[in-house]
Amino acid sequence: MAKTLIPNIFLVLVVLISLGTNALSDKGVARFPLYHREKFMASHFKDHHSLVKARLGRDRARFKLLHQRHLQHSNSAPFLRPNVDFKETNVFEEGGEYVTVLKVGNPPQKVQLLVDMGTPFTWWQCQPGCTQCYSTPHHIFDTSMSSTYTQTDCSNGSCDVQQLYIQGCVRRGEHQCRFSVHYVDRSVSEGIMATDTISTDEGVHLRNNFSFGCGSRITGIDMFNEAATGILGFVPGGYSFPTQLQANNFTFFLPYYNTTDGGTLDLNYYDEFRFQHSSTAILDIRTDRYYLLFSGIEMNEVAIPIPPEFWEFDSDGVGGVTIDTGTTITKFPEKAYDIFKDYFIRKAQGLPRAPGEDQLDTCFYVKGLYAWTDLVPKVKFLFKVRNPPLKLDVRQVVMAVSDDKYCLAFAAGGRTSIIGSWQLQGSYIGFKLPSHVLGIQPRSSY
Ligand SMILES: *[C@@H]1O[C@H](CO)[C@@H](O)[C@H](O)[C@H]1NC(C)=O
Ligand SMILES: *[C@@H]1O[C@H](CO)[C@@H](O)[C@H](O)[C@H]1NC(C)=O
Ligand SMILES: *[C@@H]1O[C@H](CO)[C@@H](O)[C@H](O)[C@H]1NC(C)=O
Ligand SMILES: *[C@@H]1O[C@H](CO)[C@@H](O)[C@H](O)[C@H]1NC(C)=O
Repeated sequence: MAKTLIPNIFLVLVVLISLGTNALSDKGVARFPLYHREKFMASHFKDHHSLVKARLGRDRARFKLLHQRHLQHSNSAPFLRPNVDFKETNVFEEGGEYVTVLKVGNPPQKVQLLVDMGTPFTWWQCQPGCTQCYSTPHHIFDTSMSSTYTQTDCSNGSCDVQQLYIQGCVRRGEHQCRFSVHYVDRSVSEGIMATDTISTDEGVHLRNNFSFGCGSRITGIDMFNEAATGILGFVPGGYSFPTQLQANNFTFFLPYYNTTDGGTLDLNYYDEFRFQHSSTAILDIRTDRYYLLFSGIEMNEVAIPIPPEFWEFDSDGVGGVTIDTGTTITKFPEKAYDIFKDYFIRKAQGLPRAPGEDQLDTCFYVKGLYAWTDLVPKVKFLFKVRNPPLKLDVRQVVMAVSDDKYCLAFAAGGRTSIIGSWQLQGSYIGFKLPSHVLGIQPRSSY
């Protein structure tokens, strides 16, 4: 008797445990790993300088991409910075700096994707039938291996051509819903819309009919092959990831660029306790982007006299301060940046100047300098709510471009400021969409 009981109890336990891990928990918290893409790319560069060159190239391309997307949404040109010559860059447009991993289909297959705060659209490469996929060391989703994969018909309500990039049926007699993403450099991702079941990397089931673009013709994109096989759209609306998963709140922990450490992305999770003493900004979600209400910058405890209009929207809705983890270098409007930079140079007199590096124009040598990080002015961001300002770590203020040369990791941009991920790395960033709250809390253990 006892002999048969034990295995039965064991079985019950196994069933309970697997229920616990395979179903979305009560609160629906789902955790994803998050890595900086350079973790997958670093070995391809001969030295730190060439890695930084590629990083700055992606940052310029991203700036151009956000600008183009903004033009599609409005008649205004908030990101436009006249005199910027993009011809120098041959880096393709890409989805972002951080990658995550999902499981798709039944049985589940891993897909590695760039998390993009610049678009609501999600696509990844699919096979078989891919006429032009870029090669990648990461798994390409095999639709024929998934019993739950479904192509979306044009008659299906989810083939909504009002949504960005969804085209519907373009050829006569066709019934598969098509999508097409065109980038400024003429690189293109095209394919059909489909649905499948998705779960976290750890196997927590998320949704049955997750809608995504199944890419089968991708041209011009070659830089992100090491990092990912597609893009996860993270701005709210349309078929974006948080919208489809009905996640009203989520928290990123962004690892530092210069580590192989992993970070996390937690959906349906915003820890009030963690953010209770943190800097908090008010989120303003418009034209598919996250904006935050910003009020200024302090340097060595003194407010920099930048007129507040630079942080605000003008009467045409142009301007503001957006947050984008796919942008590396924080951009301020040119005049605001010039004031900021002049302050920095004046306060950092102990640091010998060095020539600029691409979009970074304020650089210095540190060779042989004792405790040089103490000479770097302390920078704080102020937000329009009464709470502690965001104190940047020296590693978030300057960037090593080679062994002995560092640069101020800020640049002149367009009318809209962009807070980039260099200034957010090593921090928790929590979004509470219903109450328009963004919490930023640097991880103290760093
Ligand atoms: C639309 O697609 C979803 C997901 O594949 C499916 O569950 C649903 O039945 C489809 N609806 C119609 C009207 O075909
Ligand atoms: C997903 O698809 C299945 C099978 O087609 C269907 O039974 C279910 O209702 C769909 N769920 C949603 C949320 O559309
Ligand atoms: C981190 O940055 C330094 C420059 O400060 C560079 O020399 C080093 O190779 C980087 N380490 C990694 C792991 O990328
Ligand atoms: C975050 O979202 C989850 C799921 O909707 C909810 O249970 C939780 O209370 C939310 N947390 C906060 C702090 O709003």
